[in-house]
This record gives sequence, C-alpha cells and structure tokens, in this order.
Amino acid sequence: MKLLQATQLSHTFECELFSNVSLELNTHESIAIVGMSGSGKSTLLHILASLLQPNKGEVKILGKDVYKLKSSELATLKRNSLGLVFQSHYLFKGFSAYENLEVAKLLSQQSIDENLLAQLHIQETMQQKVTELSGGQQQRVSIARVLTKKPKLIFADEPTGNLDTQTAHEVMELFFEYTKKNDAGMLLVTHDTALANLCDKVYKLENKSLIQIK
Ligand SMILES: Nc1ncnc2c1ncn2[C@@H]1O[C@H](COP(=O)(O)OP(=O)(O)OP(=O)(O)O)[C@@H](O)[C@H]1O
Ligand SMILES: [Mg+2]
Repeated sequence: MKLLQATQLSHTFECELFSNVSLELNTHESIAIVGMSGSGKSTLLHILASLLQPNKGEVKILGKDVYKLKSSELATLKRNSLGLVFQSHYLFKGFSAYENLEVAKLLSQQSIDENLLAQLHIQETMQQKVTELSGGQQQRVSIARVLTKKPKLIFADEPTGNLDTQTAHEVMELFFEYTKKNDAGMLLVTHDTALANLCDKVYKLENKSLIQIK
C-alpha cells in the first residue's frame, strides 16, 4: 500500500530550492534522502510530513491530500499516523523521560513498550528530568516517544546525529524492525551515507532535483 505519494513538488524561499520532485513510500519501505548542507533536505521533509505547504505540487498521506484537509482532519492524521523525529527533540523539558512517553501514550491510547526502552538502552534514565539527560539520551527518548504512538509513517531528520556509530546502527535496526512489524514506512534525512545505505532506497537532492542513487 502507498503510505505517501508526493507529485511535482517545487519550493522557493529566497531562491528556488527544488522543482518537479516526486516520491513514493510504500509499506515496509525505508527511504533515505541525502545531499549537501543547504540543499533543501529538511525543507523537503517538512513538506512531505504535512508541516509546510509547497509552492507547487501535491502530498498524499494514506491517500489523503494533506494540504487540502481541514485543519481538524490534518491534526487527527498527524496525531494518529505521523511520527516526527527531528534534530531538536521537542521533549517537554520540565518532565521526566517517562512522563514524556506517557503523553504520547495518552494521546494515542497505546501502551509503553518496555522492550523498546531496553532496545534503546534508556530504561535506567526514565525517571530523570529531560534536562538531566545527555543529547544522545534525549534523542533516544524522543525516538521512543514517537514509536510509542505507533505511527504509520516516520519522518526522521538526522535522528541519530547525537549518537555514536554503534548506537546509531542499533537505532536504525530498531526503525526497520518497527516498520516491518507495524506495516509502516520511514523517510530519513541524513548526511551519513553509511546509514543512508541501510535504507531500501536512497535519493540525493542536488541541483534542485531529487535523483535516485540506490
Ligand atoms: N523558513 C525559511 N525561510 C527562509 N529560508 C529558509 C527557511 N528554511 C530554510 N531556508 C533556506 O533554505 C535552504 C535549505 O535549507 P534546509 O534546512 O532545507 O537545508 P538542508 O539540506 O536540510 O541542510 P542541512 O544539511 O544543513 O540541515 C537554506 O538556504 C536555508 O537558509
Ligand atoms: Mg537539514
């Protein structure tokens, strides 16, 4: 099943970032987007994740044209089906790691998966305040929070940027396992070509176009 279909996207800020970008994501599939700093990867991810309306083009998520939805419908889609892992984690700072997961649990009526916490090596840190955690621990808590929602689509912008190579690979394996088990898919933006190559497909944003390189 098609989780995401983007057609003929173009976007311009001060100058044109890209045009005629089309992309599809299927169930169980992972796609990486690479490209130079400033090439527009994060902007494209925001557009694909329903957060920024492009100047041109259409984004369909689970068959719905996201920029034509009513704001209440879009909010429901975001809450129930989309998982966003961005470099700044948007964790609630005054709360403990566990309380952050509880928010996701309540919003989506799912349960907190102890297994997931073990795989991310964050069981021990669950009672600590977010501000007392290292950058990499915060990143792993934010990944746990996103997966607790059981989203169909994961949008991740450098989700392992604060992690050592081994932990980064473990986290990628966890994402792959998650997408297989939950009939989900993942779109990953990264600078790390080794991590990108773990994905089923790799696209490069270059010269204002998106080209498939794997
Ligand atoms: N909200 C905005 N308003 C104006 N210009 C923006 C905005 N967001 C991004 N840009 C510009 O668009 C270009 C692409 O930015 P973007 O963040 O998408 O790049 P990127 O490929 O993700 O880079 P990096 O690898 O460094 O994260 C940059 O020149 C940036 O300054
Ligand atoms: Mg970026």
